[in-house]
Amino acid sequence: MSVQIDHLLHESRRFPPSPEFAASSVATESLYTDAAADRLGFWAEQARDLLHWHKPFTRTLDWTNPPFAKWFDDGELNVAYNCLDRHVLAGNGDRIALHWEGEPGDSRAISYAQLTTEVKRAANVLLGLGVRAGDRVAIYLPMIPEAVVAMLAVARIGAVHSVIFGGFSAESLRSRIDDAEAVVVITADGGYRKGRATPLKPAVDAALASGDSSVHTVLVVERTGGDVEWNERDKWWHEELAGVSDEHEAQPFPAENPLFILYTSGTTGKPKGILHTSGGYLTQVAFTHKNVFDLKPEKDVFWCTADVGWITGHSYVVYGPLANGATQVLYEGTPDTPHPGRWWEIIEKYKVSILYTAPTAIRTFMKIGRQEPQKFDLTSLRLLGSVGEPINPEAWMWYREVIGNQLTPVVDTWWQTETGAIMISALPGLTEAKPGAAQVAIPGVSIDVIGEDGEHVGHGNGGLLVVTEPWPSMLRGIWGDPERYIETYWEKFQDAPNGPLYFAGDGARLDRDGDIWLLGRVDDVMNVSGHRLSTAEIESSLVAHGVVAEAAVVGAHDDTTGQAVVAFVIIKYSQTDAASHADISAVLRAHVTLQIGAIARPREIHIVTELPKTRSGKIMRRLLRDVAEGREIGDTTTLADTSIMQIISASMR
Ligand code: WTA
Repeated sequence: MSVQIDHLLHESRRFPPSPEFAASSVATESLYTDAAADRLGFWAEQARDLLHWHKPFTRTLDWTNPPFAKWFDDGELNVAYNCLDRHVLAGNGDRIALHWEGEPGDSRAISYAQLTTEVKRAANVLLGLGVRAGDRVAIYLPMIPEAVVAMLAVARIGAVHSVIFGGFSAESLRSRIDDAEAVVVITADGGYRKGRATPLKPAVDAALASGDSSVHTVLVVERTGGDVEWNERDKWWHEELAGVSDEHEAQPFPAENPLFILYTSGTTGKPKGILHTSGGYLTQVAFTHKNVFDLKPEKDVFWCTADVGWITGHSYVVYGPLANGATQVLYEGTPDTPHPGRWWEIIEKYKVSILYTAPTAIRTFMKIGRQEPQKFDLTSLRLLGSVGEPINPEAWMWYREVIGNQLTPVVDTWWQTETGAIMISALPGLTEAKPGAAQVAIPGVSIDVIGEDGEHVGHGNGGLLVVTEPWPSMLRGIWGDPERYIETYWEKFQDAPNGPLYFAGDGARLDRDGDIWLLGRVDDVMNVSGHRLSTAEIESSLVAHGVVAEAAVVGAHDDTTGQAVVAFVIIKYSQTDAASHADISAVLRAHVTLQIGAIARPREIHIVTELPKTRSGKIMRRLLRDVAEGREIGDTTTLADTSIMQIISASMR
């Protein structure tokens, strides 16, 4: 890794914003100076400027019981009102909120007025089903407008949504429904992916089959028209919406009212339900969406390609853009269906001006070649963003040159499910960009890079990324598990002189100018195509299969997906003759897909006879990563049996 870092730090290309871009920049230097002079006053001002408060707040931050923060907590607002009604009341009801494009080519343009009406109806349906403020509603939908409507309807009545990515299996869905004790599930018959109608509802049926769940109603959106099995608890979304009034007055809720739970992988097998609340979250997503993306809502067409099942979709498809009254594109399908230029075609069709996507997508397009994007008119683009994993300078340069016509700024944004909104990013009209670096904390956010000893590392050095002050969109906890919240994020640096530091789990380095370069996770969390996966979760899925005695999983470098899942398994003695290795690995890959979802399916499974362990029995994943990446094997002296690595390497040739 260090060779790669040194190479990165010699990156000397610099891209200042063009004079035209800088001249009309939404963000100004005063953001930095104001935030530096009075950080809390700065956030209070943003909250007042960017949002409508039914009841104004007088307290900005309550940090008397760290790490449990409260922001703007005596204020009251309605999140959906902020994303909808107020734009209509301001005379922007005819502005398009969503240009939705289905994978088969069907499309819908939905104005702010229409979206508001839909959300009011859906809110009335939920109320009619007995859903009340604080109740949890699970959402398991493809990328269709109803996903946005469902989330906002839940928010509108002060309930809490838990969106589960449509690629997750029935079992993953079940565990998330149970953990949150959801009362309603909103799903669809299916969605379109890779040219096919893919069913979704069977996974919900399977998740609820045992009959002992907290869910009393399943609302089903009709998308593909495929056959669905029908249960007593099921109701068609369109029938329910047709049967209610489109009048609904948004009630205010306290700023700290929970808005959503979103499950993400941690270092243990059990996913964590990250909890976000209303006022602080909405303030920071609106602030970052406006300033990082230089948003001019009357002119821009914004497109964030993330699925609403991930935090990027929550913050930069739903809440940030809609709070700011932006027009955006929502696309249902895969980038290569029905042809490899689909994204570029969509950009041309809707004149997208701001594109926000992940490095893994950019690298895939690089492999396909520039001839695809060059078939389309991409001159509407004026700003490009990247998120989800470190972007290598080559991909950054390609993105700017081929997609951005050598002109557009590229912002690399670092943040997490837990941080709720962007934390580190250039501001495109102000910052001189460096390919590959996320660069600077946004105004009002305090970041540091420190050593294990808690000391600032100084320019030119690497260490651990921490957030040193509470921020408005910070997670408020892990659903039902305050201890795990403290342990995971705050215990490591709890004794810092100015209060505990938030430990992000990422390594970072400061270059000679003090700019931040992200180096990837320092824990047992992998990042595959920008999705977080836990080694422990996949290992426990593998050992749950009858043939497996032991399993170790590592994230190995992959040119396209950033990292790939590589598993090493020991087969039970009684099973060793049962089938060939190829058969066993096919069975196990299918098993992980069924248990967790296709995103967790290992790229490779190696059947081995031993795993490298320390004398205390801890698996040394570092050595397995060396093997998986075809590198010379590192220091083996702490292994209980130092010959094991030769045996493993030999068995893989
Ligand atoms: C990684 C996604 C480098 C990081 C918004 C973090 C990044 C994890 C970047 C969070 C970036 C995200 N540069 N690494 N610009 N953005 N990451 O929760 O390891 O899905 O901890 O949130 O992705 O992933 P999550």
